[in-house]
Amino acid sequence: MRLLITAGPTREYLDDVRYLSNASSGRMGYAIADAALAAGWDVVLVSGPVDLAPPVGCEFHSVVTTQQMRDTCLQLFPGCDGVIAAAAVCDYRPRERITGKLSKTGGPVTIEMIETDDVLAELGQIKEQRWVVGFALEAQNPRENALQKLRRKNCDWIVLNGPAAIGADTNDVELLAPSGDAVAHWTGTKKDIADQLITWLSAQT
Ligand code: CTP
Repeated sequence: MRLLITAGPTREYLDDVRYLSNASSGRMGYAIADAALAAGWDVVLVSGPVDLAPPVGCEFHSVVTTQQMRDTCLQLFPGCDGVIAAAAVCDYRPRERITGKLSKTGGPVTIEMIETDDVLAELGQIKEQRWVVGFALEAQNPRENALQKLRRKNCDWIVLNGPAAIGADTNDVELLAPSGDAVAHWTGTKKDIADQLITWLSAQT
């Protein structure tokens, strides 16, 4: 089994020194990489900037922006059997990246933001026989929203978690199938959840 994993946040630059991002630690994605390696899988890890060392034994690709994550994943996915998209990708980016440093104007500034590419949705579109697992971080109507996301992004399964997962050591997740059924419910450290996800996928794929 050769598994592609996305992990960590992405950054979207406003100018050469400022960026928009989020508080993702990358721990969930890295724990999944560790669990898959321990199960004897080949792991290809595409990661945004985090304070974690790449797991020993994985093929590691460091990226910064969403565009870089997308381009790297599209290139690597055809050589893999499946993908787990644990990255907290920036959904928007400034329309323009200013060269140098934006100076103060003495008044308010307006930044026009446009949507970034959806890495998982693009992988879902080209998946053919490969399997695709997404993550959904939902604050309201969690199951309904996660299921819509699963379908929109052509996932085989989606891991549903809440905002408490961001930056935390532990997590509480449900695994949803396209039917809408919760096929698993796991709580514990991110390592426990990663181990259970890989064990579960080993039995399915
Ligand atoms: N994802 C992605 N590329 C994006 C946005 C999200 O690959 N540009 C992936 C994430 O890695 C995750 C899944 O899509 O596996 C869902 O991410 P989430 O942030 O919950 O959903 P969004 O599609 O961003 O929708 P919203 O923010 O409106 O809930």
